[in-house]
Amino acid sequence: MVKLTGYKKIKTAVFISGNGSNLKSLIKFSKTRKSPITINLIITNNPKAKGLKLSKINKIKKKSFNFKKKNEIENQMLSVLKKHEIKMICLAGFMKILSRNFITKFSGKILNIHPSLLPKYKGLNTHQRVLSNKEKYSGCTVHFVNSKLDSGKIILQKKVKITKNETKNSLAKKILKQEHKLYPRAILKVFSL
Ligand code: GAR
Repeated sequence: MVKLTGYKKIKTAVFISGNGSNLKSLIKFSKTRKSPITINLIITNNPKAKGLKLSKINKIKKKSFNFKKKNEIENQMLSVLKKHEIKMICLAGFMKILSRNFITKFSGKILNIHPSLLPKYKGLNTHQRVLSNKEKYSGCTVHFVNSKLDSGKIILQKKVKITKNETKNSLAKKILKQEHKLYPRAILKVFSL
């Protein structure tokens, strides 16, 4: 598990692909006294990701990588992470799959948030699949990342009830609100393990 050394906070990179609302909640959390992490770098595969605007506002460095040549890019990412002394990675709406090689380099130090009650509904289009299967509940999960998609050890989950007239969008919104609370709680849990 991740251990804190002295009082030093752990330099963390957040990987995003889109809106970055989870990034925003993680930045807010990182500025609290109880946070074991600081956010020192934002990485994206999408130079147009809305969440990148949080970089300037919060004075956090950002880097965009074109994932077309994944192996090359991952090696470049690893040197950027090293340069910034990053010790932990939080995937937050990052829509690319990292290779086994990359993951091993940060073994046990990469977390992800997924909008379902894993192990159910791994992958994409989660909310639509949940509704089509007439589930009564859905939710979100924070887990460690291993080389299998959405399959690493679960850290925390939050369940939400699906209402009668639930739509894909209303469910996504409801779950996202819970994600913003769950991710910081999961980070605290990781450091208390
Ligand atoms: C979140 O719901 C997150 O769980 C999901 O993308 C959304 C990103 O929102 N992630 C995945 O589906 C990963 N497989 P955000 O950019 O506003 O944080």
